[in-house]
Amino acid sequence: MKILFATANQHKVDEVQRLLGDAIEIITPAQTGYTDDIPETGNTLEENARQKARHIYERCAQPCFADDTGLEIDALGGAPGVYSARYAGDGKDSQANMRRVLKELHGVSHRAARFRCVIVLIAASREYVFEGRVDGEIITEERGTQGFGYDPIFRPEGYPCTFAEMPVEEKNRLSHRGKAVEQLVAFLQKAEILNPAP
Ligand code: IMP
Repeated sequence: MKILFATANQHKVDEVQRLLGDAIEIITPAQTGYTDDIPETGNTLEENARQKARHIYERCAQPCFADDTGLEIDALGGAPGVYSARYAGDGKDSQANMRRVLKELHGVSHRAARFRCVIVLIAASREYVFEGRVDGEIITEERGTQGFGYDPIFRPEGYPCTFAEMPVEEKNRLSHRGKAVEQLVAFLQKAEILNPAP
């Protein structure tokens, strides 16, 4: 079974491919010859995930899913949220994004935060939505080299280390994307949309 993942982020592809196992093979838009940017101009995670999935589905005409993730920090009123990728500007610079968050939380003791991930799957012209979240807190400095994005400053609840200090398998077990993908996998395994009966 093959399925398109509407992303240009290889970290996400690697994480999700591990979760999908051998039975479902991810292909990327780039592998089908699509290398332009995928637009994400929505006001919510679901709008963005839907927009990305539709954009690629319309061009590649095969079953396709997209995710959109936001880091929501209570002390910042839920920011950066849907603007997580561009929090420090259009460059989508993870280091600059983390610097901005740490600066804004300087001296703040209530540091609760969560990642939310919404996945939209489109197959046979129907759309399906899955969501996962993980609660935790923003620590006061970057720690760890694994993962990507805000991983070095996010410590999931109940763990002593950040996502960037964990092997990818461990992050996947508890992460927002891991939980959303778990639902996607369960759906794909029982659905006949990708393998319709003859
Ligand atoms: P998007 O889902 O690609 O739009 O991601 C929004 C922002 O959140 C980007 O800055 C990503 O680097 C960041 N991000 C997405 N997923 C994760 C994650 O699993 N860990 C840390 N940061 C993430």
